[in-house]
Amino acid sequence: MPDPPHRRRAHARSSDLERYAGLFAERTRVMRSSAMRDLMAVTARPDVISLAGGLPDTSTFPPQTFAAQMTRIAQESAAEALQYGPTEGFRETVDCIVEVMGAEGMLPDPEDVIVTTGGQQAIDLICKALVDPGDAVICEAPTYPGAIPVFCSYQADTIQIECDGEGMRIEELEATLERLDAEGRKPKLIYTVPSFQNPAGVTMSLERRRRLVELARSRELLVVEDSPYGLLRFGGEALPPLYQLDGGDFVIYIGTFSKILSPGIRLGWAVTPPPVMEKVVLGKQASDLCTSTLTQYFVREYFRDGNWREYVESLAVIYRERRDAMLEALAKHFPAQASWTEPEGGLFIWATLPPYIDTSDLLAKALRENVAFVPGQAAYVDGRGRNSMRLNFSAGSADEIREGIRRIGKVVGEQVELYSALTGEATEVAAQPEGAPADEAENVLPFRKAEGE
Ligand SMILES: Cc1ncc(COP(=O)(O)O)c(C=O)c1O
Repeated sequence: MPDPPHRRRAHARSSDLERYAGLFAERTRVMRSSAMRDLMAVTARPDVISLAGGLPDTSTFPPQTFAAQMTRIAQESAAEALQYGPTEGFRETVDCIVEVMGAEGMLPDPEDVIVTTGGQQAIDLICKALVDPGDAVICEAPTYPGAIPVFCSYQADTIQIECDGEGMRIEELEATLERLDAEGRKPKLIYTVPSFQNPAGVTMSLERRRRLVELARSRELLVVEDSPYGLLRFGGEALPPLYQLDGGDFVIYIGTFSKILSPGIRLGWAVTPPPVMEKVVLGKQASDLCTSTLTQYFVREYFRDGNWREYVESLAVIYRERRDAMLEALAKHFPAQASWTEPEGGLFIWATLPPYIDTSDLLAKALRENVAFVPGQAAYVDGRGRNSMRLNFSAGSADEIREGIRRIGKVVGEQVELYSALTGEATEVAAQPEGAPADEAENVLPFRKAEGE
């Protein structure tokens, strides 16, 4: 009996690689995979504690609320909810977006808003509208690992500016702009995640926010402020978004419902000046015609019915407790030479290990212990970040987080001991003896401390 067709295809796959190679577009040579997406297959295993993803805890959303809203949509607007919608999104969705932005003090013109398929598509559409191959794009070091594949697929020359405990170092940005000036170049955009950054968890200080906006305005440069976490603050003082400081002339704003409601609904947005919006809309028409009508109806119902701010506040309470559990566990299980950030919101902590530890190698060992994290290199375009890692504290329970950090601490400890045995250098494996009270403060050294800025 002949093989069924799908089995024949599977056999042919590996030998076909060369045959297809000549067909690919030039840009595919520089396309990069997203580290988190790659890890998802492994971390989906039930025995793995994943501190790798950026998943909000959707189990906190009441199923009965979800059911009631979807039922109402089915009963009252089935035909419309199942239909195509406008490329820019429904006005009712935009009204919800204006309400969310208003909660952080922003007042966008609804005409400047486009509803997108997640914040991820907004990054893609903005790059599609602005970036030609070889164009300079500036972002933070480290930057959101999911933005790197976008910059790569538009063949950007991605330049990363160091972050410290106060966010992007503006002095280094100014020096980079001067250097580009001297080369007759101007960056197409400066991409930043100023609040509870993914991956580092740091927040740009007010002074730096002001300086960045001043720079953008005086040099007529576009800043892309990507802010999925601004409302997930659980400590410190709220800071004005760049968009608010600028008024929307040179700051493009990207938001999302992913972290305040659900990533599964794939609803995000961009707010841009009108000339940019015109190009972004054309790009979106070509890309997917419109964002899901059904999930836009869901958001509309949710905002009408539920108290969305209360839900966001309840998430912040849960995430604060989990962040605290992670900080405590880090102090207990990580070596004295490690340091980590102490975020006041968002979903991530960034840990830096001794320089002789490569976290990509460490991940293989960690996976054998059934625990995962994102190796720091995923947040850089140039191989930096080898001894750092991104740790997520929103997805698992406090107990899972403690156990996950214990397991990572164990493999880190083995590396430290090995290094010590090979070099004869004395090393202290655990940050503190078992049972000692956690004192995080000593290890909370986000990269370098802010210097002179
Ligand atoms: C900084 C940043 N931008 C964009 C996204 C993409 O989010 P989504 O497409 O789900 O809105 C994420 C997701 O984690 C993120 O952290």
